[in-house]
Amino acid sequence: MILLGVNVDHVATLRQARYRDESNTHGGFVEPDPAAMAWLAEEAGADGITMHIREDRRHVQVEDVIRYQEKRLTRLNLEISLAEEMVNLALELKPESVCLVPENRKEVTTEGGLDVVGQLERAREAVGVLSAAGIPSSMFIDPDTSQLEASAKIGAPWVELHTGSFARAWYSKNRGQPELEHLHLGMEVGTSLGLRVNAGHGINYQNIEGARSLKKVFEFNIGHSIISRSMNTGLFEAVQKMKAILNE
Ligand code: PXP
Repeated sequence: MILLGVNVDHVATLRQARYRDESNTHGGFVEPDPAAMAWLAEEAGADGITMHIREDRRHVQVEDVIRYQEKRLTRLNLEISLAEEMVNLALELKPESVCLVPENRKEVTTEGGLDVVGQLERAREAVGVLSAAGIPSSMFIDPDTSQLEASAKIGAPWVELHTGSFARAWYSKNRGQPELEHLHLGMEVGTSLGLRVNAGHGINYQNIEGARSLKKVFEFNIGHSIISRSMNTGLFEAVQKMKAILNE
């Protein structure tokens, strides 16, 4: 069985659009609440929850993570950059795992894989510090053999293969077949190196048809599409409810 990790960052994106800097007003009522949505996802069968604390704190806040952890049912995969400040924060928050991702201030979402080859010593140090604290780390990388080998070399137990190129290519004539083959190769190389292989980014209810052929993937981490679908499926009830209260 392939496990499903649910990324709730975009619940926080929506919350920040209205309540940035206002967490103490409105009687403490802020919506939507990423922690509450994470608990709901767990009730629905999510095997894990991912939250990304960005250096610029643009969506998930430290308080969201702490509040989620108080009542979590599964496990927290905390995404952070390689910056020392972020690794120290992870040591304080003690998630069940960390996913190390590249961060570029101008990007809308994580755009490319981490260059482990080019930052070998910094990555080794981060993996070592986290592992000494009992926190396994996963390197979010493109499915390139050199990146997989570098991840194994620095002692990372897991990798997460970046599925973004495949996800974009799904809408081309060949349904992203070359990109999917690249991912298959990455999965095989990763598992043969003894790495646990996760995958994610850009996976939706359409391209999952292709992505699920990656049978040796331990867990898919999916965010945007699940949060978007929850709006589609939830809007009907939300409008009905408001109209009913309005006319009570
Ligand atoms: N995995 C990683 C490492 C990510 O950075 C992201 C996006 O934040 C995801 C998975 C989920 O991507 P999406 O929101 O496109 O499903």
